[in-house]
Amino acid sequence: MSRTLIRGRLLTFHREPQGPDDHTAHAYEEDGAVLVENGVIAAAGPHTSLAAAAKDAHTVDHRPHLLMPGFVDAHAHFPQMQVIASFGTELLDWLNTYTFPEEMRFADPAHAARIAGAFLDEMVRHGTTTAAVYCTVHPQSVDAFFAEAERRKMCMIAGKVMMDRNAPRGLTDTAQQSYDDAKALIARWRGRGRLHYAITPRFAITSTPQQMEMAQALASEHPDLHVQTHLSENRAEIALAKELFPDCADYTAIYERYGLTGPKSLFGHCIHLSDREADALSDSGSVAVFCPTSNLFLGSGLFDYQRYRRRNKPLRIATATDIGGGTNYSMLRTMDEGYKVIALNGEKLNPLAAFWQITRGNAEALSLERIGTLEPGSDADLVVLDARATPAMRLRMERANTLAEELFVLQTLGDDRAVVETYVAGQPMKRGL
Ligand code: GUN
Ligand code: ZN
Repeated sequence: MSRTLIRGRLLTFHREPQGPDDHTAHAYEEDGAVLVENGVIAAAGPHTSLAAAAKDAHTVDHRPHLLMPGFVDAHAHFPQMQVIASFGTELLDWLNTYTFPEEMRFADPAHAARIAGAFLDEMVRHGTTTAAVYCTVHPQSVDAFFAEAERRKMCMIAGKVMMDRNAPRGLTDTAQQSYDDAKALIARWRGRGRLHYAITPRFAITSTPQQMEMAQALASEHPDLHVQTHLSENRAEIALAKELFPDCADYTAIYERYGLTGPKSLFGHCIHLSDREADALSDSGSVAVFCPTSNLFLGSGLFDYQRYRRRNKPLRIATATDIGGGTNYSMLRTMDEGYKVIALNGEKLNPLAAFWQITRGNAEALSLERIGTLEPGSDADLVVLDARATPAMRLRMERANTLAEELFVLQTLGDDRAVVETYVAGQPMKRGL
């Protein structure tokens, strides 16, 4: 049995912090350690007691850095790595001008493998150990992504995008083909490593009612699988979706009609929801995924995080990069932009809540029970963070006195340079990149 003791300043969350002074929601250990056995956390706590109980373990000392669960990104498109930083358009033009032509390249398995590997390396470089990922319409893009994730022993959610209209030939399937492809991919990948298949109709605009029925059939045949799609990102998109499904009262009703809401359903964006739509998402336990860098970059709108949390029927919320509408791979940069979006809505998000969100909060939103905390039995996916990683951060840290201030410096000034190491199932992954 391989045993490793990873030493550092431990931080893990038990539940969502209720405010900046809620110090009961997290556990912090100034000289702590995580004991990893065969990729799983066997214990976490004060270094002295763990070291005494695990004398044979190999020790890695990360002090004075922070050691916490790896970050979770609830929505990203791996085939859009070469779309990031495309100038000057809003959602529908951006898709047609940049994104769809780029995704057509993923018919080539060699290209898909190259970008899948690069994407996962970038995740590791930024401290992200799990993501919910869109592939392309090509089944080979899913095979490439899962193969690279399996090789790295990463916990990843991904699926083949289903799209049978309003996109170029070469980037569409048919209703039947999308069903058959998904069935074959589920059969091939289910239960392998730490991989999870997600039923992935791109959004209502690129699926015919017949294809939505196929997505419904997949979801009812596999109720344990995730569903991921896009909802209410931009005004033109909402108008077109309603035009294409005139019998549905609003955009959310389209997904309800086809049985696609539920506790494992992840809806990217959800910016312009009516009260009825928010109620419907809440009642079904669906998850609204906040993608701040993307929403600002594409000019889509301001997700009202605090109002969604506070309403009578609160929403389950996750946060995400939305690469490549999103502009940064870092969940630190994502929460920095998220803080600003929330500020524009007249509210604040305290740093403890932000770090809960990108660890345990996102893990719970994705219904992934083995990640997001340092509790015994969790997979040892960890990130080591240095709040003094750059000269500017070092200077700012001279004025920081509390853990919350340190976290806020990491969130506001940090990026991949602040990620000292990323562990996946107990293995250090960043050093070798
Ligand atoms: N809506 C449908 N497809 C996409 C996509 O690839 N990115 C974003 N941001 N929104 C979408
Ligand atoms: Zn997206």
